[in-house]
Amino acid sequence: MRMTDKTSGFRTAVVPAAGLGTRFLPATKTVPKELLPVVDTPGIELVAAEAADSGADRLVIVTSPGKDGVVAHFVEDLVLESTLAERGKFALLEKVRKAPGLLDVTSVVQEEPLGLGHAVAQAEAVLDDDELAIAVLLPDDLVLPCGVLETMSRVRRERGGSVLCAIDVPKSQVSAYGVFDVEECADNAETDVLRVKGMVEKPDLADAPSTLAAAGRYLLDRVIFDALRRITPGAGGELQLTDAIALLIDEGHPVHVVVHRGSRHDLGNPGGYLRAAVDFALERDEYGPQLREWLKFRLSPEWDPQSPIA
Ligand code: UTP
Repeated sequence: MRMTDKTSGFRTAVVPAAGLGTRFLPATKTVPKELLPVVDTPGIELVAAEAADSGADRLVIVTSPGKDGVVAHFVEDLVLESTLAERGKFALLEKVRKAPGLLDVTSVVQEEPLGLGHAVAQAEAVLDDDELAIAVLLPDDLVLPCGVLETMSRVRRERGGSVLCAIDVPKSQVSAYGVFDVEECADNAETDVLRVKGMVEKPDLADAPSTLAAAGRYLLDRVIFDALRRITPGAGGELQLTDAIALLIDEGHPVHVVVHRGSRHDLGNPGGYLRAAVDFALERDEYGPQLREWLKFRLSPEWDPQSPIA
């Protein structure tokens, strides 16, 4: 049974997918980064499944001119489906039907890649008047195990405002992320729920207020759209979602983080993407055992590029 926004706090999950994906060039010249497969499933389908599981009814994909394939992935392909059915390929049929069956998909177009904040702002046009909050999931970020949005929804129900997701990273990695400046909640009811005082984007280690790095999951009160209209271009000349959240914090809007005690994969760069692909493949019966053996061989001192592949 689907939760309604009375229990999950949101109906709409916004997935910004209008970036240029420059770190994946030349592949992203023609293939949207969000469709690159983690084993066999595009990253955006994994994130859409997470959104559906956490109670969203609708996915709003922010796309850019020329990236139609991202939305097409969520549309039924009746010709392909009937071909697979005629050939008795029912397992594949189930896989192909999964994305279109997850939730209702709508798209909005960001005409120019003016930043994540600008991308999220485009979603306001398709929200219903009674939607008081939205979830934003970055398709680059796999937050595992899934389920953090449910915790974030509960925190919003209990504390109001907006709720973000943090992962405690080693000190050596803080400079790669947006880092939270936090304090304990007045009631100190849960150690993994903290009040956010501010955020610093990619700080030097010496300036980092904590080791809590932003992960790509946001539960944002609808006032975010008002804040997004009032910010000016920030880092990289882009309209940053972080700046709009910082503006709300300055104005007294309650913002909390849930510290997610799990792992994450950053699909936004080739190194992180490869790690995710290997991690997911190792878990699969059809690929895992052979891949594990090959990796052991590939990393052993016996490995010789001239020898035949085992
Ligand atoms: P990233 O900065 O990680 O993605 O933005 P990118 O810009 O596509 O990649 P690089 O840096 O050039 O390699 C995080 C998310 O925000 C979306 C991206 O599609 C990605 O899912 N985004 C970013 C937009 O939708 N619009 C923008 O203007 C910027």
